[in-house]
Amino acid sequence: MYNRREITTQERLQQERFCQEIRARIAGRPHYALVDTYGCQQNESDSEILRGWLVQCGYALTDSEEKADLIAVNTCAVREHAEKRVLGNVGALAHNKAKNPELIVCVGGCMAQQETMRERIRRSYRVVDMVFGPHEVWQFPQLLLETMERRGRRGSKSRLIAAAPSEGVVAEGLPRQRDSAVKAWLTIMNGCDNFCSYCIVPYVRGRERSRRPADILAEARELVAAGYKDITLLGQNVNSYGKGLEEDVDFPDLLAELDKIPGDYVLRFMTSHPKDATEKLFRVMAESEHCAHHIHLPLQSGSDRILKEMNRHYDRAKYLEKVAAARAAMPDLVLTTDIIVGFPGETEADFMDTLSLVNEVRYDAMFTFIFSARTGTPAAAMPDPVSRAEKQVWFDKLLDAANRISGEKHAAYVGGTYRVLVDGETGQSPYNLSSRTKGGRLVHLAGDPALVGSFTDVKITDSTTWALYGELA
Ligand code: SAH
Ligand code: SF4
Ligand code: F3S
Repeated sequence: MYNRREITTQERLQQERFCQEIRARIAGRPHYALVDTYGCQQNESDSEILRGWLVQCGYALTDSEEKADLIAVNTCAVREHAEKRVLGNVGALAHNKAKNPELIVCVGGCMAQQETMRERIRRSYRVVDMVFGPHEVWQFPQLLLETMERRGRRGSKSRLIAAAPSEGVVAEGLPRQRDSAVKAWLTIMNGCDNFCSYCIVPYVRGRERSRRPADILAEARELVAAGYKDITLLGQNVNSYGKGLEEDVDFPDLLAELDKIPGDYVLRFMTSHPKDATEKLFRVMAESEHCAHHIHLPLQSGSDRILKEMNRHYDRAKYLEKVAAARAAMPDLVLTTDIIVGFPGETEADFMDTLSLVNEVRYDAMFTFIFSARTGTPAAAMPDPVSRAEKQVWFDKLLDAANRISGEKHAAYVGGTYRVLVDGETGQSPYNLSSRTKGGRLVHLAGDPALVGSFTDVKITDSTTWALYGELA
């Protein structure tokens, strides 16, 4: 059943004491740390905490592998491709270690939570000094200190290769080095209980547990007060927020409370499982002052048979009903999705169901993936007779449709004026600034870099499949 353990203040303070010890150990010359992140926003958010700890331990942050005394790789296990990239890059760090034998290499994240992967790293990636899972980010200083103490010991004792069982830890008050001064992640929950049959996330991220509303509201208030303009609420399925809390609160309630925080900012959230997206959510979004009219509503497949095999708990008709309700509440809704092509047993007819649904719904943007078998998930054991080449043909067809529709949707912006948040510099000319519409569409524009962090009106002059181009209105 539900397991949720809040880290106590005492446990957190103990970690801070470990930071002091590490600080003392590395005193004498500047030490640099690099955190390399793969995967989703949850991992990016965890990496901000890792950087927070590293700074507290006395490290200066760097982007340079050559300069680094410590490299932490925060990994993703969602598809094989992601894992291969990580292993390739970790293997290549052997060169860095040859040059700097003092280098500490840590591998964390979702890949590291898998027993088989830890074993593989233990045997074949001797460059790695420490492996830790996503449930241990809160106690990174302790693990790092132990790793430092182990170095110099012999054989298997010289490295720390373990990961805690995936229990439902909730940790408040951890230090955090945010990547941006404009956009912020705000984790509202961790883990996932949905067990979609293809997905590794519930196995590596553990059971779903929500943060308390008061803690989330306090963090949001701090972010707004600190000048953040774009806050993204994070959870694998934000729509099931609140389950297991003492408070009687659901996601739309939380959103409505957050929306009351005064200020000029945009609220976004990811991800929203279609089975739990409700009319109440759409109504709260429509009535809110700050909430972006954007929903990322992963479809995965347009075939009822495949949706059932995927354990998604909705069918095509139900999905279309939700889209219609969301659009009725918000006529300017931006809708994006994820789709998996080539799920085991998928036929051409199933694929055509996906394609027809895509043509019917017309997403603003789509993230498309070819099915990747993940050891330990039910789908990995299902017969999968369709060749990779055939799946690629379907995938390309889907991508063509996605790109055509995105291009058409983007073209419809041209000539209009939209309020955007300028969120960064592109380093390119003449469109030197990047910005986002409230619905989350990317707009390149030319302007004074001092605009970064502010809202401004932009007239859209041009568009491509992937972006809009505009000038200050
Ligand atoms: N919790 C989010 C998804 C997180 S994973 C949600 O349910 O929406 C992001 C996307 O990766 C998924 O939506 C899915 O489209 C894709 N994905 C997950 N497991 C996969 C697998 N085994 N093979 C291919 N794509 C996968
Ligand atoms: Fe994976 Fe499904 Fe959970 Fe999303 S909802 S993380 S796809 S199991
Ligand atoms: Fe990857 Fe873990 Fe996110 S598997 S997609 S980093 S939750």
